[in-house]
Order: sequence, then C-alpha cells, then structure tokens
Amino acid sequence: MSKITAAITAVGAYVPEFVLTNAMLENMVETNDEWITTRTGIKERRILKAEGKGTSFLAIKAAQNLIQKASLDPATIDLVIVATATPDMKAASTASYTSTQIGATNAFSYDMDSACSSFLFGMSTAASYIESGRYKKILLIGADKMSSIVNYKDRATCIIFGDGAGAVLLEATEDESIGIKDSILKSDGSGRHYLHMKAGGSLKPASVETVLNKEHFAYQEGQAVFKFAVKGMADVSAELLERNQLTGDDIAWLVPHQANLRIIDATANRMGLDKEKVMINIQKYGNTTAATLPLCLWDWESQLKKGDNIVLAAFGGGFTWGATLLTWGYDSK
Ligand code: COA
Repeated sequence: MSKITAAITAVGAYVPEFVLTNAMLENMVETNDEWITTRTGIKERRILKAEGKGTSFLAIKAAQNLIQKASLDPATIDLVIVATATPDMKAASTASYTSTQIGATNAFSYDMDSACSSFLFGMSTAASYIESGRYKKILLIGADKMSSIVNYKDRATCIIFGDGAGAVLLEATEDESIGIKDSILKSDGSGRHYLHMKAGGSLKPASVETVLNKEHFAYQEGQAVFKFAVKGMADVSAELLERNQLTGDDIAWLVPHQANLRIIDATANRMGLDKEKVMINIQKYGNTTAATLPLCLWDWESQLKKGDNIVLAAFGGGFTWGATLLTWGYDSK
C-alpha cells in the first residue's frame, strides 16, 4: 500500500478594506514613516472596522474564497481548524461557528493558538491526521483580528499588527512526490513574558483594575522578541534543510512569518536563499499573526508550480517557532 501524504490543494484569503497607513499612525502616536519602514518594512496594514464583527468574519470570508475558487463542496470537509490568537470569544470556539457558517456540515472543528506559529503548528496537526488515514480533507484557516487587542496609543505594538485571514485545504494523496515532507516545531515557555496579554486569562481574570491598567492589550518587549525570533526562525530553517540534505538551491520559495523584514532577511541569509525566492508582503499587511503564511501563499499562488520545494517558517509568542518543508502539488489554475 502506498504511503499517504497531505498536500495543499487550494488556497483562499481575505483582508478587510480599511487601510491604516504609516502616515495615519503619525497622527495617532509619536512615530514616523521612515522609522517604521526601516525598522520593520511595514508601510500599511488592514483593519476590520465593521462593528460587531470578530475574527470569525475574517475566517469565514477566507474559507468562502477558497470554497468558491476550488468549487469545493463544504459538506466533504472532515475537519476545520481555526488557528488564531484572537478568537471571537473565550469558551465557544471560533472554528465551530465558522464551520457552520460555511456549510461544513459534516466536519468537527476546533481552535488552535500558538500565537504567530498557530498556522504552522496547525498544518502539522492536519498533516498528521491525514497521514494516519483518519481524515481526508481538512480546512486550515489562519485568522486574526489583531486590532481587537492592540492599544493604538502604544507605538511599540500598534505599528506592527494588522487584521487578515488565509485558508488552505489539505487533502490526502498517494502521490509521494508532493505534499508535506518534514517539520521542526519548537516552544520555550521561558519567553512568555516578552510577548503576551497580561490579563483576561485564568491567571489574571478581567477586573476594573486590569481594564484601567490596559492589560487586555498585546504587550511586547520588542528587542527581546527580535533577538529570539532571528535565532529561532533561522536555526530551524537551516536545520530543516540540512536534515533533508537540501541547500538553498533546492528551494523554490521561503514563506516566512511576516513580523519584521530584518527577521525575514536573517532567515533567508542563513538558508542561502536569494531575495527573489522569499515571499514578502509585510509592507501591505503588517503582522497578521496566524494569517501571514496563508496570505503569502494566496498572493504568490499564481507563481507556484507543481514540484516546487517550499519552506514555511514562523515565530510567535510563547515562545513558539518552527519550519515545515513541503513540495507544491499543483500548477496555478
Ligand atoms: N516610532 C518611533 N520610535 C520608536 C517606536 C516607533 N513606533 N517604537 C519605539 N521607538 C523608539 C524607542 O523608544 C527607542 O528610543 P530610545 O532609543 O530613545 O530609547 C528606539 O526607538 C529604539 O527602540 P527599540 O525597541 O530598541 O527598537 P527596535 O530596533 O528593537 O525595533 C521593533 C522595535 C518592535 C520594530 C523590533 O524590536 C521588532 O520588530 N521586534 C520583534 C517584533 C516581533 O517580531 N513581534 C512579533 C513576533 S510574532
């Protein structure tokens, strides 16, 4: 019997219409376009302005885009995973609402949160289910409404994050030349104080005091995160190539988490990759947390060819980080 692997067979995404530019931020906090551009590479980000709409709105739109592009019958999906750090609400999963809204009537569903690595970790979970033979079709959505946890008076975080969502369909295949080949995934909880939300969880439930202290916003110590991210993402990506006996020449594309252009450059350099092989859209969307990787695949889909070796790499709060090697399974339709 041939081995079953998991391959990406369709991509979808959605970004809200409202564009928050660096010039607009100059009127909100003490910053400037030159500082933001040189330190991060970000020029603008998308923000979901609509009242009463949470992350599920983004996730549903991305899934519907995929379903429509791929002419997919949603009733054939076995599992829907929503990777997110900003669920609609605690204790009722964003994935169950999303799967019902998109008509995935035969799927079970759940959320996964490992901050900016959620999508990468979710891909590994989905691939393992498929490789085991248990499920055949899994919809993995990375969606975050970061504007719901960003303090637009804190210049250390508000310049970085944006809202968006992307989705991939992972399907079982017996074609061993394509699909997900290998992953190295890591976490280190000693880093959790550098990037987190201080209150609102079971450790420090919401109170008048936590609201007054602005503890329901994302808090980040940028430099500490930066140092860890550069080393973490570059190390695993290089290790992944080495253990698969590959060099930068064998890789068609690097799909890096879009947190900071300098972190992306450091990872590409360690892998020996030319800049033309690196997907970079941070200038348009900023850091959309779980959505960065599928948003890259969506933007570059028309250039991807069957047989392309692709490395996806991510880093996030927790700390969490990792890299995945896959071979692309289809030419753009
Ligand atoms: N505009 C202008 N100046 C700013 C600023 C802003 N938005 N934010 C900070 N500064 C100032 C600081 O106050 C500091 O001033 P000082 O030297 O007078 O004290 C100076 O700029 C340098 O700040 P620093 O925090 O050392 O800058 P940095 O080069 O580390 O860049 C980040 C800041 C946040 C862009 C960078 O650390 C980063 O990208 N970190 C990783 C973030 C990340 O990847 N997060 C998500 C992980 S998934």
